[in-house]
Amino acid sequence: MSTPRSSSVWIRLVLLTRRFKSAWLKGVLCVASLSAMALIAALVMSCASVNRTVHIAPGSPGAKAVGMETCAACHGKIVADFKTATHARLKAEGDNALDVGCESCHGGGSVHVEAGGGRGTIINPKKSPEICFQCHLDKRGEFSLPHTHPVLSGKVSCVDCHDPHKGDAVIAGGTALASQNETCFKCHTAQRGPFVREHAALREGCTTCHAVHGSVNDKMLISRNANLCLSCHIEVAQKGKIMVGGADHASRLARGNCWMSGCHEAVHGSQVSAALRF
Ligand code: HEC
Ligand code: HEC
Ligand code: HEC
Ligand code: HEC
Ligand code: HEC
Ligand code: HEC
Ligand code: HEC
Repeated sequence: MSTPRSSSVWIRLVLLTRRFKSAWLKGVLCVASLSAMALIAALVMSCASVNRTVHIAPGSPGAKAVGMETCAACHGKIVADFKTATHARLKAEGDNALDVGCESCHGGGSVHVEAGGGRGTIINPKKSPEICFQCHLDKRGEFSLPHTHPVLSGKVSCVDCHDPHKGDAVIAGGTALASQNETCFKCHTAQRGPFVREHAALREGCTTCHAVHGSVNDKMLISRNANLCLSCHIEVAQKGKIMVGGADHASRLARGNCWMSGCHEAVHGSQVSAALRF
């Protein structure tokens, strides 16, 4: 590891090992986690090469970093909880490096502290994702895809689904996948059920089928065709037949996707139809 130049701060990024979802999805997820690793690798590279802009957000003019302990004097609860946060693993090291945890998103805090605190003297990233994009470069692209959550227009915020201050940044990310769905149910009550006929796929999490940052496909689906469903439902092929759920789907699959009208429209769950038709 090289010694940082005295004017700059070197950031050590600790990578996290992605957990696996259930064993029967392992194949799919191996691919997914590989791409997550690639992303994190990209993050490390981008953060390392542009640490001038990433470790301290451009704050109020003239503001300098003061370090997290200074914030603790007035924001004790946030600082105490922050130890558990994903972003607490971002750490600056070097001769003149301060622990810049808070200021990596809020910008230098000196002006705010000299003013004795108060609103409008330090960045509050609630209203704009720009601070997040400085490190998560790829996310700007994802939120520019044709089908996305309206984050760029400010109707939905990163913090509706992510906690910057406490615990896993993906809310409920450390616990059962089904509890991650609670984040979605805050706004999408129809998918909560309860359903008489549940679709077990939802227990794997909404992100099994939806790319919630953005997708080229309608409804932010990860695939626009039967592959969305066949990734779990494929069965051993027989001569001239495509067996799904014990029935030959060869001619059905030729007609369109699985959730088109008349087929499995109630893809999240149904009150009546075991085959999730309506
Ligand atoms: C990953 C980026 C990030 C980091 C790191 C971060 N914050 Fe925040 N902070 C945010 C965002 C985003 C908001 C707006 C969230 C909201 O209002 O729900 C916010 C809001 C706040 C607020 C205003 C809360 C309110 O009620 O208006 C305070 C105070 C604050 N942060 C202090 C801190 C302190 C202290 C630390 C370090 C221990 C810290 N933050 C670290 C992103 C961050
Ligand atoms: C001297 C006490 C004090 C210190 C030190 C302090 N703050 Fe604050 N901070 C406040 C007060 C008071 C508010 C206003 C809270 C309110 O109105 O609810 C505030 C508000 C904020 C806000 C919201 C600003 C807005 O415009 O919405 C953020 C973000 C914040 N502080 C972050 C920090 C960070 C990061 C540090 C350390 C670099 C820090 N504060 C240090 C007292 C302090
Ligand atoms: C200073 C650079 C930086 C800023 C600013 C930043 N992040 Fe991060 N973020 C990272 C890094 C690096 C990681 C990977 C940390 C780790 O896993 O140790 C990360 C991790 C995450 C994760 C969790 C990834 C996972 O797989 O668990 C989420 C979610 C996230 N950030 C969202 C945000 C949001 C939302 C904002 C804006 C409020 C933000 N980040 C601001 C650098 C940053
Ligand atoms: C509608 C909810 C939602 C919004 C809004 C959202 N995210 Fe996410 N994000 C998620 C979920 C859910 C995951 C976990 C994905 C998974 O497990 O497959 C995630 C994962 C991540 C990750 C880690 C894995 C990855 O895809 O890179 C980062 C980083 C991240 N989000 C950053 C952001 C940033 C930055 C914003 C705002 C610009 C944002 N997210 C807005 C729901 C959301
Ligand atoms: C803060 C509220 C909020 C949260 C939390 C939220 N969403 Fe959304 N979602 C929206 C809004 C607003 C839209 C855009 C609706 C529109 O354009 O009509 C949307 C759109 C969608 C759509 C596309 C709907 C369509 O008709 O095209 C899907 C799918 C979706 N969200 C899934 C999710 C999932 C999965 C999660 C959890 C990871 C989630 N949402 C969390 C507010 C939210
Ligand atoms: C098995 C795959 C799958 C899973 C898991 C899944 N969805 Fe969907 N979702 C779909 C499909 C397919 C559509 C498109 C339905 C259509 O166009 O009629 C859709 C559409 C939606 C829509 C748009 C409104 C609608 O019903 O057309 C929302 C909102 C939504 N899903 C939210 C969620 C939430 C929240 C979760 C997690 C609780 C979730 N989805 C889990 C496949 C899935
Ligand atoms: C994450 C894996 C997964 C995905 C993706 C998935 N399913 Fe399922 N699905 C299941 C599981 C598990 C069951 C319950 C066990 C079973 O019957 O195979 C189930 C059951 C069903 C059933 C009820 C079968 C019966 O006869 O009881 C239908 C219909 C169904 N899924 C349709 C779909 C459709 C349509 C899609 C694509 C939009 C889809 N599934 C995507 C895992 C998945």
